[in-house]
Amino acid sequence: MKIGIVTLFPEMFEALTSYGVTSRAFKQNIIELKFFNPRDYTDNKYNSVDDRPFGGGPGMIMSPQPLKNAISKARDWIDDSLKVVYLSPQGALVTQSKIKSMTDENNFIFIAGRYEGIDERIIQTQVDEELSIGDYIVSGGELPAMVILDALVRYKPGVLGNPMSKNQDSFSDDIFDFPNYTRPEIFDGIKVPEVLLSGHHSQIKAWRDQQAIKKTKEKRPDLLNKEGSK
Ligand SMILES: C[S@@+](CC[C@H](N)C(=O)[O-])C[C@H]1O[C@@H](n2cnc3c(N)ncnc32)[C@H](O)[C@@H]1O
Repeated sequence: MKIGIVTLFPEMFEALTSYGVTSRAFKQNIIELKFFNPRDYTDNKYNSVDDRPFGGGPGMIMSPQPLKNAISKARDWIDDSLKVVYLSPQGALVTQSKIKSMTDENNFIFIAGRYEGIDERIIQTQVDEELSIGDYIVSGGELPAMVILDALVRYKPGVLGNPMSKNQDSFSDDIFDFPNYTRPEIFDGIKVPEVLLSGHHSQIKAWRDQQAIKKTKEKRPDLLNKEGSK
């Protein structure tokens, strides 16, 4: 899988490529990442990548030409079928099932906006899909791109130490993860549930399944009411 990232701040992605389980995916090239900075593809002598909005108003808009040039370089690098995703608060909300379906697609270009966003004509002519990480505004598309990338690489074989982890994660079946405990057996006066110390695997599984449903019912009953959920 190749993912080209169009961003003014490629350094931010070190949080993903240098730390924890996600770094493994990039060091082993399970996912190939390459950055395309619109600032490197300007055709004006000031290297400017933004301009004032037509019609007035606060803030700046990312100019279309440097973005188009950067996207075109990313297309050349991928040189295969791909989908162009603009990270946008106006996009479809990303869910675990969306992430799962993205792992079946081969290549992506992610566009991280900044300022007041990008020129609408780039969305019209270059973008296949807009994705949002939630109904709130962050300052740039880099963190949303990293959130999606992190969730995506967890599905790639060889990334998680134990591949079973992702099946047990919350949302894998529209059910939350069960409560987890580690040593000590008693902490702050609270004892680990007896069944987990029993060594009885089927009883442990039954308890965990029942607790996972209980947690989901209490915290997010809407997940259980979804069509096709358990
Ligand atoms: C300050 S925001 C611009 C928001 C824009 N004025 C609007 O209201 O739609 C700058 C950039 O951050 C990214 N962004 C902000 N919130 C986001 C979210 N919830 N999901 C995905 N991307 C987001 C987008 O790439 C956006 O272009």
